[in-house]
Amino acid sequence: MSNINSNVKKWSVSSRLFHWISAILLLVTWIMMLLYRNFDSSLYIGLHKAFGVSLLFWMIARVINRVFTKAPPPVPMPKWQLLMSQVSHFVLYGLLIAMPFVGLMMSVYGGRPVDIFGLFEIPVFVTPDRSAARFYNDLHTDIIWPMIIAFTLIHIGAALYHQFVKKDNLISRMK
Ligand code: HEM
Ligand code: HEM
Repeated sequence: MSNINSNVKKWSVSSRLFHWISAILLLVTWIMMLLYRNFDSSLYIGLHKAFGVSLLFWMIARVINRVFTKAPPPVPMPKWQLLMSQVSHFVLYGLLIAMPFVGLMMSVYGGRPVDIFGLFEIPVFVTPDRSAARFYNDLHTDIIWPMIIAFTLIHIGAALYHQFVKKDNLISRMK
């Protein structure tokens, strides 16, 4: 079969699953926060935390998967672009781990255990400390979240550039 996609070097099935489910978990966690901001219901903040912690576990598994599976060879591009893509992917990994970790620290330093969908509970495993809780709250809200927005927009922008300007089929590697 000689369709244009047949010789695209794809990411492994596991890498593709990790990628898209991470993106969905991020989206759902964010939507729960929007719902909480609009309806001020403890249901939504609880779900925000549970989906956020799920993303933390998912990202830990994803890093392990990344170490043990081979990435496809990069599509041809200038060296600086390849370097930028590697740096920004690395930063995205870091942010997606830091964000839920910091959220969890905010909660436990605030003295609140975290319920995970009623399945189990993460206990307060630190000595509650108001100023530490406030520090993690500021990190969560004012530092890491704006960085996630920025890097995600750059990431999606780069994917669209490959799709519509360079037309090099990059996105199909992750589909
Ligand atoms: C990747 C995962 C996460 C993302 C993207 C995320 C994102 C956000 C965002 C956008 C806000 C609102 C900031 C604002 O506009 O005021 C927020 C607030 C909050 N998040 Fe997360 N969050 C994540 C994980 C978590 C986790 C795991 C927890 C706790 C276990 C948590 C606890 C909270 C709490 C308690 C607030 C409210 C803070 C306040 O009312 O000032 N988050 N989060
Ligand atoms: C419409 C949304 C998205 C599209 C079209 C997209 C597309 C892609 C593509 C094509 C790649 C592979 C690049 C290559 O082969 O060199 C990739 C990798 C990656 N994407 Fe996305 N992505 C999207 C959303 C997201 C989101 C929301 C995140 C997290 C915030 C994310 C994080 C990553 C990371 C960390 C990698 C690197 C994978 C690795 O090196 O293991 N992506 N994305």
